Amino acid sequence: MILFQKSKDLQAFIEKKKTENLQIGFVPTMGALHQGHLSLIRAAKQDCDLVVCSIFVNPTQFNQISDLENYPRPIENDIKLLIEAQCDVLFHPDVNELYGGNFAKDSSEDYGRFVHVLEGESRPGHFDGVVTIVNKLFSICKPHQVYFGQKDYQQCLVVKTLIAREFPAIQFHLCPIEREADGLAMSSRNIRLNSQERNIANHLYKALELVQNNWNKEHWQDALTHAKEMYLGAPFKLEYFCVCDQESLEELTDFKAEAVVLAAATLGNTRLIDNLLLRI
Ligand code: PAJ
Repeated sequence: MILFQKSKDLQAFIEKKKTENLQIGFVPTMGALHQGHLSLIRAAKQDCDLVVCSIFVNPTQFNQISDLENYPRPIENDIKLLIEAQCDVLFHPDVNELYGGNFAKDSSEDYGRFVHVLEGESRPGHFDGVVTIVNKLFSICKPHQVYFGQKDYQQCLVVKTLIAREFPAIQFHLCPIEREADGLAMSSRNIRLNSQERNIANHLYKALELVQNNWNKEHWQDALTHAKEMYLGAPFKLEYFCVCDQESLEELTDFKAEAVVLAAATLGNTRLIDNLLLRI
């Protein structure tokens, strides 16, 4: 695996590879890699000749300075995992390389109502930070294909909108959520859960699953209420748990054959998010 820390070096390398007609796949991450991230690398490996992964903890998408400061950065282990996964290139720039002291954010304000609900409401400015960094990374890497996890479902809609507006040639791939054996969605933040919290953290998934298993016109609303009562009482601090349209993220009032159920909750100091696609 080749490691680049400077944008212009990666750019020159990619340009050369493009003259050789290679398909470039790109997987942006913030590191602390787990099987979820590695599944994206594997998907990219299947479709592309050259896979680039970026590791960059993006300051402009964090809402709390403590979350940014405490974000895990086990770079040696990440490099080991990427080599094992046969990733071809790692882009690991420092903050100055990407922001040069200018932390002005692009705006996702006019992307549509869907950026202002759920995560957009809970984490003001978060998606502006995501759009800013993804725009920078796509402009540097200029990939043919990009791979994102359904785990961050709303982020995927935001990135798809960015692609439609600024990078229409890029092909977007939505990759399934990798889970622990008990259903908990893998996340770099899961290591913050203490053992008691870890034991019940999968209740978020169980609640979503209950809605998925009752996805029909008669029972879906009752299932939503029961799921919350059964699984998401204290010590969970529930932020949202709702069934939405897959594209607009408008909350469903009437039953639809296809939808998505999304949830966010805090357990101790750890914020968990998860979702499941629904179809009859
Ligand atoms: P990060 O949280 O590191 O996630 C990087 C990618 O891995 C995202 O596309 C995310 O959805 C995916 N991912 C995370 N957990 C997953 C799981 N359990 N199964 C499958 N995929 C999973 O998302 C970000 O970083 C940042 O916002 C980023 C896009 C890199 C911009 O800074």
